[in-house]
Amino acid sequence: MSSDDNIDHYYVGLMSGTSMDGIDAALVCFGDHSGEIVRTHKQEYPRSLRQELGAIVNDPQRISIDQLGRVDHRVAQSFADAAMAVLESADEYPARVRAIGSHGQTIRHCPDDETPFSIQIGDPNVIAARTKLITVADFRRADMAAGGQGAPLAPAFHHWLFGTAVPNSVVLNIGGFANITTLTPNSDEVVGFDTGPGNTLLDAWIRHSKGLPFDDAGSWAASGEVLQPLLKCMLDDAYFVLEPPKSTGFEYFNLAWLQRCIADTAASEHSAADVQATLVELTAISISTAVTGAAPAADRLLACGGGVHNNFLMDRLASNCQSLRIDETTEFGIDADWVEAAAFAWLARQTLNGNSGNLPSVTGATKKVALGSIFSPTT
Ligand SMILES: Nc1ncnc2c1ncn2[C@@H]1O[C@H](COP(=O)(O)OP(=O)(O)O)[C@@H](O)[C@H]1O
Ligand SMILES: [Mg+2]
Repeated sequence: MSSDDNIDHYYVGLMSGTSMDGIDAALVCFGDHSGEIVRTHKQEYPRSLRQELGAIVNDPQRISIDQLGRVDHRVAQSFADAAMAVLESADEYPARVRAIGSHGQTIRHCPDDETPFSIQIGDPNVIAARTKLITVADFRRADMAAGGQGAPLAPAFHHWLFGTAVPNSVVLNIGGFANITTLTPNSDEVVGFDTGPGNTLLDAWIRHSKGLPFDDAGSWAASGEVLQPLLKCMLDDAYFVLEPPKSTGFEYFNLAWLQRCIADTAASEHSAADVQATLVELTAISISTAVTGAAPAADRLLACGGGVHNNFLMDRLASNCQSLRIDETTEFGIDADWVEAAAFAWLARQTLNGNSGNLPSVTGATKKVALGSIFSPTT
Protein backbone atom coordinates (compact mmCIF):
# COMPACT_ATOMS: atom_id res chain seq x y z
CA MET A 1 0.00 0.00 0.00
CA SER A 2 1.44 3.40 -0.93
CA SER A 3 1.68 6.28 1.53
CA ASP A 4 -0.99 8.03 -0.55
CA ASP A 5 -3.37 5.22 0.30
CA ASN A 6 -2.64 5.83 3.98
CA ILE A 7 -3.34 9.54 3.63
CA ASP A 8 -6.75 8.70 2.27
CA HIS A 9 -7.65 6.75 5.36
CA TYR A 10 -7.70 9.30 8.19
CA TYR A 11 -10.41 11.90 8.63
CA VAL A 12 -11.78 13.96 11.50
CA GLY A 13 -15.54 14.26 11.89
CA LEU A 14 -17.00 17.16 13.89
CA MET A 15 -20.63 17.05 14.96
CA SER A 16 -22.85 18.97 17.32
CA GLY A 17 -26.47 17.94 17.16
CA THR A 18 -29.67 19.62 18.24
CA SER A 19 -29.06 18.65 21.89
CA MET A 20 -26.13 21.10 21.90
CA ASP A 21 -24.57 18.91 24.59
CA GLY A 22 -21.12 19.44 23.06
CA ILE A 23 -19.07 18.98 19.93
CA ASP A 24 -18.13 15.40 19.14
CA ALA A 25 -14.73 15.12 17.43
CA ALA A 26 -13.70 11.70 16.10
CA LEU A 27 -10.52 10.74 14.27
CA VAL A 28 -11.59 7.89 12.03
CA CYS A 29 -9.58 5.45 9.95
CA PHE A 30 -11.63 4.22 7.01
CA GLY A 31 -11.06 0.91 5.31
CA ASP A 32 -13.12 -1.02 2.82
CA HIS A 33 -16.61 -0.57 4.31
CA SER A 34 -15.14 -0.15 7.79
CA GLY A 35 -14.52 2.78 10.06
CA GLU A 36 -12.26 2.51 13.10
CA ILE A 37 -12.62 5.27 15.66
CA VAL A 38 -8.98 6.03 16.49
CA ARG A 39 -9.35 8.94 18.93
CA THR A 40 -12.25 10.96 20.27
CA HIS A 41 -12.78 14.20 22.10
CA LYS A 42 -15.93 15.84 23.39
CA GLN A 43 -15.77 19.61 23.61
CA GLU A 44 -18.42 21.49 25.55
CA TYR A 45 -19.38 24.95 24.39
CA PRO A 46 -18.33 27.75 26.75
CA ARG A 47 -21.29 28.42 29.06
CA SER A 48 -22.11 31.84 27.61
CA LEU A 49 -22.03 30.51 24.04
CA ARG A 50 -24.27 27.57 24.94
CA GLN A 51 -26.74 30.01 26.51
CA GLU A 52 -26.64 32.28 23.48
CA LEU A 53 -27.25 29.36 21.11
CA GLY A 54 -30.17 28.25 23.28
CA ALA A 55 -31.65 31.75 23.15
CA ILE A 56 -31.26 31.94 19.36
CA VAL A 57 -32.95 28.59 18.88
CA ASN A 58 -35.83 29.43 21.24
CA ASP A 59 -36.39 32.92 19.91
CA PRO A 60 -34.97 33.16 16.39
CA GLN A 61 -36.63 36.53 15.69
CA ARG A 62 -34.38 38.07 18.32
CA ILE A 63 -31.02 37.61 16.61
CA SER A 64 -29.36 40.48 14.73
CA ILE A 65 -27.07 40.04 11.75
CA ASP A 66 -24.09 41.21 13.82
CA GLN A 67 -24.92 38.71 16.54
CA LEU A 68 -25.26 35.92 13.97
CA GLY A 69 -21.87 36.80 12.52
CA ARG A 70 -20.22 36.72 15.93
CA VAL A 71 -21.88 33.47 17.00
CA ASP A 72 -20.88 31.87 13.68
CA HIS A 73 -17.25 32.74 14.45
CA ARG A 74 -17.39 31.67 18.10
CA VAL A 75 -18.97 28.33 17.24
CA ALA A 76 -16.20 27.85 14.65
CA GLN A 77 -13.57 28.49 17.33
CA SER A 78 -15.16 25.81 19.53
CA PHE A 79 -15.25 23.38 16.58
CA ALA A 80 -11.58 24.17 15.87
CA ASP A 81 -10.76 23.61 19.57
CA ALA A 82 -12.46 20.22 19.35
CA ALA A 83 -10.53 19.30 16.19
CA MET A 84 -7.20 20.44 17.66
CA ALA A 85 -7.82 18.46 20.84
CA VAL A 86 -8.48 15.23 18.98
CA LEU A 87 -5.51 15.79 16.66
CA GLU A 88 -3.15 16.63 19.53
CA SER A 89 -4.26 13.55 21.45
CA ALA A 90 -3.05 11.49 18.48
CA ASP A 91 0.24 13.13 17.60
CA GLU A 92 1.33 10.33 15.29
CA TYR A 93 -1.67 10.88 13.02
CA PRO A 94 -2.10 14.53 11.96
CA ALA A 95 0.29 14.29 9.02
CA ARG A 96 -1.85 11.48 7.69
CA VAL A 97 -5.20 13.18 8.16
CA ARG A 98 -6.64 14.07 4.80
CA ALA A 99 -9.49 16.32 5.88
CA ILE A 100 -12.05 17.38 8.42
CA GLY A 101 -15.79 16.99 7.86
CA SER A 102 -17.65 19.55 9.94
CA HIS A 103 -21.41 19.44 10.33
CA GLY A 104 -21.57 22.75 12.19
CA GLN A 105 -24.35 23.72 14.57
CA THR A 106 -27.89 23.78 13.24
CA ILE A 107 -29.72 26.92 14.33
CA ARG A 108 -32.67 26.55 11.94
CA HIS A 109 -33.95 23.66 9.82
CA CYS A 110 -37.00 24.48 7.67
CA PRO A 111 -37.05 22.01 4.75
CA ASP A 112 -40.81 22.34 4.31
CA ASP A 113 -40.92 26.12 4.31
CA GLU A 114 -42.34 27.80 1.23
CA THR A 115 -38.71 28.72 0.63
CA PRO A 116 -36.86 25.74 2.10
CA PHE A 117 -33.65 26.38 4.02
CA SER A 118 -31.41 24.94 6.70
CA ILE A 119 -28.71 26.89 8.54
CA GLN A 120 -25.61 25.35 10.11
CA ILE A 121 -23.11 27.77 11.63
CA GLY A 122 -19.42 27.48 12.60
CA ASP A 123 -17.38 29.15 9.83
CA PRO A 124 -15.34 26.36 8.15
CA ASN A 125 -12.69 28.92 7.06
CA VAL A 126 -11.77 29.34 10.73
CA ILE A 127 -11.58 25.57 11.25
CA ALA A 128 -9.35 25.11 8.18
CA ALA A 129 -7.09 28.01 9.20
CA ARG A 130 -6.69 26.80 12.80
CA THR A 131 -6.15 23.12 11.99
CA LYS A 132 -4.26 23.65 8.72
CA LEU A 133 -6.43 20.90 7.27
CA ILE A 134 -8.86 20.87 4.37
CA THR A 135 -12.31 21.23 5.87
CA VAL A 136 -15.49 20.06 4.15
CA ALA A 137 -18.67 21.65 5.50
CA ASP A 138 -22.18 22.87 4.66
CA PHE A 139 -23.37 19.36 3.85
CA ARG A 140 -27.10 19.84 3.93
CA ARG A 141 -27.73 22.51 1.35
CA ALA A 142 -26.60 20.64 -1.78
CA ASP A 143 -29.22 18.02 -1.03
CA MET A 144 -31.82 20.72 -0.44
CA ALA A 145 -30.87 22.42 -3.70
CA ALA A 146 -31.61 19.07 -5.35
CA GLY A 147 -35.08 19.13 -3.81
CA GLY A 148 -34.30 17.07 -0.69
CA GLN A 149 -34.92 17.58 3.00
CA GLY A 150 -31.17 17.97 3.63
CA ALA A 151 -31.69 15.40 6.38
CA PRO A 152 -31.11 12.87 7.65
CA LEU A 153 -27.65 12.47 6.08
CA ALA A 154 -26.22 9.69 8.23
CA PRO A 155 -28.24 6.90 6.46
CA ALA A 156 -25.79 6.77 3.53
CA PHE A 157 -22.99 6.14 6.03
CA HIS A 158 -25.07 3.61 7.98
CA HIS A 159 -25.70 1.77 4.72
CA TRP A 160 -22.06 1.92 3.62
CA LEU A 161 -20.86 0.66 6.99
CA PHE A 162 -23.47 -1.95 7.92
CA GLY A 163 -25.52 -2.46 4.76
CA THR A 164 -24.43 -5.90 3.71
CA ALA A 165 -22.86 -6.99 7.01
CA VAL A 166 -25.96 -6.86 9.19
CA PRO A 167 -29.04 -7.91 7.19
CA ASN A 168 -32.67 -7.45 8.33
CA SER A 169 -31.66 -4.58 10.56
CA VAL A 170 -32.51 -0.98 11.19
CA VAL A 171 -30.04 1.59 12.51
CA LEU A 172 -31.56 3.88 15.12
CA ASN A 173 -29.86 7.09 16.18
CA ILE A 174 -31.35 8.70 19.30
CA GLY A 175 -29.99 12.23 19.41
CA GLY A 176 -32.08 15.31 20.10
CA PHE A 177 -34.30 13.84 17.39
CA ALA A 178 -34.38 10.18 16.48
CA ASN A 179 -33.77 8.87 13.00
CA ILE A 180 -33.80 5.41 11.47
CA THR A 181 -32.11 3.74 8.48
CA THR A 182 -33.36 0.46 7.04
CA LEU A 183 -30.44 -1.68 5.94
CA THR A 184 -31.21 -3.09 2.53
CA PRO A 185 -28.56 -4.52 0.19
CA ASN A 186 -29.44 -1.97 -2.51
CA SER A 187 -28.74 1.63 -1.44
CA ASP A 188 -31.54 2.87 -3.71
CA GLU A 189 -34.05 1.07 -1.49
CA VAL A 190 -32.85 2.41 1.85
CA VAL A 191 -35.57 4.15 3.83
CA GLY A 192 -34.49 6.66 6.43
CA PHE A 193 -36.22 9.51 8.21
CA ASP A 194 -36.59 11.38 11.48
CA THR A 195 -39.11 9.50 13.60
CA GLY A 196 -39.71 12.53 15.82
CA PRO A 197 -38.30 13.67 19.16
CA GLY A 198 -35.52 11.55 20.65
CA ASN A 199 -34.07 13.28 23.71
CA THR A 200 -35.02 16.86 22.94
CA LEU A 201 -38.30 17.05 24.88
CA LEU A 202 -36.82 14.99 27.74
CA ASP A 203 -34.00 17.54 28.01
CA ALA A 204 -36.34 20.52 27.63
CA TRP A 205 -38.74 19.29 30.32
CA ILE A 206 -36.11 18.46 32.94
CA ARG A 207 -34.34 21.76 32.22
CA HIS A 208 -37.66 23.60 32.63
CA SER A 209 -38.74 21.66 35.75
CA LYS A 210 -35.48 21.07 37.59
CA GLY A 211 -32.79 23.15 35.88
CA LEU A 212 -30.88 19.99 34.89
CA PRO A 213 -29.44 19.43 31.39
CA PHE A 214 -30.70 15.82 31.05
CA ASP A 215 -32.37 13.02 33.00
CA ASP A 216 -29.43 10.80 33.91
CA ALA A 217 -30.23 7.18 32.94
CA GLY A 218 -33.90 8.23 32.76
CA SER A 219 -34.28 7.72 36.51
CA TRP A 220 -36.60 10.71 36.97
CA ALA A 221 -38.85 9.48 34.16
CA ALA A 222 -38.82 6.00 35.71
CA SER A 223 -40.28 7.47 38.91
CA GLY A 224 -43.36 8.76 37.06
CA GLU A 225 -46.51 7.24 35.57
CA VAL A 226 -47.49 7.59 31.91
CA LEU A 227 -50.36 10.08 31.42
CA GLN A 228 -52.44 8.41 28.71
CA PRO A 229 -54.42 11.51 27.59
CA LEU A 230 -51.17 13.48 27.21
CA LEU A 231 -49.53 10.59 25.36
CA LYS A 232 -52.48 10.32 22.98
CA CYS A 233 -52.55 14.06 22.38
CA MET A 234 -48.85 14.06 21.48
CA LEU A 235 -49.06 10.94 19.30
CA ASP A 236 -51.97 12.52 17.41
CA ASP A 237 -49.56 15.08 15.98
CA ALA A 238 -49.65 14.97 12.17
CA TYR A 239 -45.86 14.54 11.93
CA PHE A 240 -46.04 10.96 13.14
CA VAL A 241 -48.29 9.84 10.27
CA LEU A 242 -46.59 11.89 7.57
CA GLU A 243 -45.08 9.66 4.88
CA PRO A 244 -41.30 9.92 4.46
CA PRO A 245 -39.19 11.63 3.25
CA LYS A 246 -39.46 13.76 6.34
CA SER A 247 -37.19 15.48 8.82
CA THR A 248 -37.90 17.67 11.79
CA GLY A 249 -36.27 19.82 14.45
CA PHE A 250 -36.67 22.10 17.43
CA GLU A 251 -38.61 24.56 15.27
CA TYR A 252 -41.52 22.13 15.55
CA PHE A 253 -41.09 19.85 18.59
CA ASN A 254 -40.16 22.14 21.46
CA LEU A 255 -41.21 23.17 24.95
CA ALA A 256 -44.06 25.30 23.57
CA TRP A 257 -45.40 22.27 21.63
CA LEU A 258 -45.25 20.18 24.82
CA GLN A 259 -46.89 22.88 26.91
CA ARG A 260 -49.77 23.12 24.43
CA CYS A 261 -50.36 19.36 24.79
CA ILE A 262 -50.10 19.66 28.59
CA ALA A 263 -52.68 22.47 28.59
CA ASP A 264 -55.05 20.58 26.25
CA THR A 265 -55.08 17.52 28.53
CA ALA A 266 -54.85 19.26 31.94
CA ALA A 267 -51.65 17.29 32.54
CA SER A 268 -50.30 20.03 34.80
CA GLU A 269 -52.56 18.61 37.52
CA HIS A 270 -50.13 15.69 37.63
CA SER A 271 -46.50 15.60 38.73
CA ALA A 272 -43.72 16.80 36.42
CA ALA A 273 -42.19 13.30 36.69
CA ASP A 274 -45.37 11.88 35.11
CA VAL A 275 -44.85 14.21 32.14
CA GLN A 276 -41.25 13.00 31.84
CA ALA A 277 -42.41 9.36 31.90
CA THR A 278 -44.93 10.20 29.17
CA LEU A 279 -42.25 11.82 27.03
CA VAL A 280 -40.13 8.67 27.25
CA GLU A 281 -43.16 6.68 26.08
CA LEU A 282 -43.66 9.13 23.21
CA THR A 283 -40.09 8.61 22.02
CA ALA A 284 -40.29 4.82 22.44
CA ILE A 285 -43.67 4.41 20.71
CA SER A 286 -42.94 6.80 17.84
CA ILE A 287 -39.69 4.93 17.14
CA SER A 288 -41.27 1.48 17.31
CA THR A 289 -44.17 2.54 15.05
CA ALA A 290 -41.75 4.03 12.53
CA VAL A 291 -39.54 0.93 12.50
CA THR A 292 -42.48 -1.44 12.09
CA GLY A 293 -43.87 0.66 9.24
CA ALA A 294 -40.56 1.07 7.41
CA ALA A 295 -39.13 -2.41 7.93
CA PRO A 296 -41.80 -4.91 8.97
CA ALA A 297 -39.44 -7.86 8.43
CA ALA A 298 -36.53 -6.44 10.45
CA ASP A 299 -35.45 -8.43 13.47
CA ARG A 300 -32.69 -6.23 14.86
CA LEU A 301 -32.16 -2.63 15.88
CA LEU A 302 -28.64 -1.18 16.00
CA ALA A 303 -28.86 1.76 18.37
CA CYS A 304 -26.57 4.76 18.66
CA GLY A 305 -26.63 8.36 19.93
CA GLY A 306 -26.81 9.71 23.47
CA GLY A 307 -30.24 8.16 24.05
CA VAL A 308 -28.63 4.72 24.51
CA HIS A 309 -27.48 5.97 27.95
CA ASN A 310 -31.07 6.56 29.01
CA ASN A 311 -31.67 3.11 30.50
CA PHE A 312 -35.35 3.73 31.12
CA LEU A 313 -35.88 4.83 27.51
CA MET A 314 -34.06 1.75 26.22
CA ASP A 315 -36.22 -0.47 28.47
CA ARG A 316 -39.40 1.15 27.18
CA LEU A 317 -38.15 0.83 23.61
CA ALA A 318 -37.46 -2.89 24.12
CA SER A 319 -40.92 -3.30 25.57
CA ASN A 320 -42.50 -1.60 22.56
CA CYS A 321 -40.35 -3.51 20.01
CA GLN A 322 -40.76 -7.08 21.20
CA SER A 323 -39.98 -8.64 17.83
CA LEU A 324 -36.66 -6.82 17.59
CA ARG A 325 -33.38 -7.57 19.23
CA ILE A 326 -31.75 -4.27 20.27
CA ASP A 327 -27.96 -3.94 20.27
CA GLU A 328 -25.75 -0.88 20.36
CA THR A 329 -23.66 -0.25 17.24
CA THR A 330 -20.67 -0.73 19.57
CA GLU A 331 -21.32 -4.49 19.24
CA PHE A 332 -20.72 -4.09 15.50
CA GLY A 333 -17.46 -2.21 15.73
CA ILE A 334 -18.42 1.46 16.04
CA ASP A 335 -19.03 3.07 19.40
CA ALA A 336 -22.62 4.27 19.76
CA ASP A 337 -21.47 7.72 20.92
CA TRP A 338 -19.38 8.41 17.83
CA VAL A 339 -21.40 7.18 14.85
CA GLU A 340 -22.71 10.63 13.90
CA ALA A 341 -19.27 12.28 14.09
CA ALA A 342 -17.86 9.40 12.02
CA ALA A 343 -20.65 9.96 9.48
CA PHE A 344 -19.44 13.49 8.80
CA ALA A 345 -15.83 12.31 8.52
CA TRP A 346 -17.07 9.81 5.93
CA LEU A 347 -19.15 12.43 4.09
CA ALA A 348 -15.99 14.57 3.76
CA ARG A 349 -14.23 11.54 2.30
CA GLN A 350 -17.08 10.98 -0.15
CA THR A 351 -16.93 14.59 -1.31
CA LEU A 352 -13.15 14.67 -1.72
CA ASN A 353 -13.30 11.41 -3.65
CA GLY A 354 -15.96 12.90 -5.93
CA ASN A 355 -18.70 10.62 -4.63
CA SER A 356 -22.25 11.45 -3.65
CA GLY A 357 -23.28 11.57 0.01
CA ASN A 358 -27.07 11.72 -0.04
CA LEU A 359 -29.57 8.96 -0.64
CA PRO A 360 -32.51 10.32 -2.68
CA SER A 361 -34.75 7.53 -1.32
CA VAL A 362 -34.13 9.03 2.13
CA THR A 363 -34.02 12.78 1.65
CA GLY A 364 -36.35 13.02 -1.35
CA ALA A 365 -33.71 14.74 -3.50
CA THR A 366 -34.14 14.29 -7.23
CA LYS A 367 -30.65 12.81 -7.58
CA LYS A 368 -27.47 11.76 -5.81
CA VAL A 369 -25.12 14.68 -5.29
CA ALA A 370 -21.74 15.32 -3.67
CA LEU A 371 -22.40 17.20 -0.46
CA GLY A 372 -20.60 20.14 1.08
CA SER A 373 -18.07 22.75 0.11
CA ILE A 374 -14.31 22.36 0.38
CA PHE A 375 -12.39 24.96 2.41
CA SER A 376 -8.60 24.94 2.10
CA PRO A 377 -6.22 26.05 4.85
CA THR A 378 -4.76 29.49 4.23
CA THR A 379 -1.15 28.48 5.03
N1 LIG B 1 -26.36 9.26 30.95
C1 LIG B 1 -27.40 9.70 30.23
N2 LIG B 1 -28.67 9.50 30.67
C2 LIG B 1 -29.73 9.94 29.96
N3 LIG B 1 -29.63 10.61 28.79
C3 LIG B 1 -28.38 10.82 28.32
C4 LIG B 1 -27.22 10.39 28.98
N4 LIG B 1 -26.13 10.75 28.25
C5 LIG B 1 -26.61 11.40 27.15
N5 LIG B 1 -27.96 11.45 27.19
C6 LIG B 1 -28.86 12.10 26.25
O1 LIG B 1 -28.25 12.18 24.99
C7 LIG B 1 -28.29 13.53 24.51
C8 LIG B 1 -27.13 13.79 23.58
O2 LIG B 1 -27.21 12.86 22.55
P1 LIG B 1 -26.52 13.15 21.15
O3 LIG B 1 -26.52 11.86 20.40
O4 LIG B 1 -25.22 13.83 21.37
O5 LIG B 1 -27.57 14.14 20.51
P2 LIG B 1 -27.33 15.33 19.47
O6 LIG B 1 -26.89 14.67 18.20
O7 LIG B 1 -28.64 16.00 19.38
O8 LIG B 1 -26.24 16.19 20.08
C9 LIG B 1 -28.28 14.38 25.78
O9 LIG B 1 -28.80 15.66 25.55
C10 LIG B 1 -29.14 13.52 26.70
O10 LIG B 1 -30.50 13.78 26.49
MG1 LIG C 1 -24.51 15.69 20.89
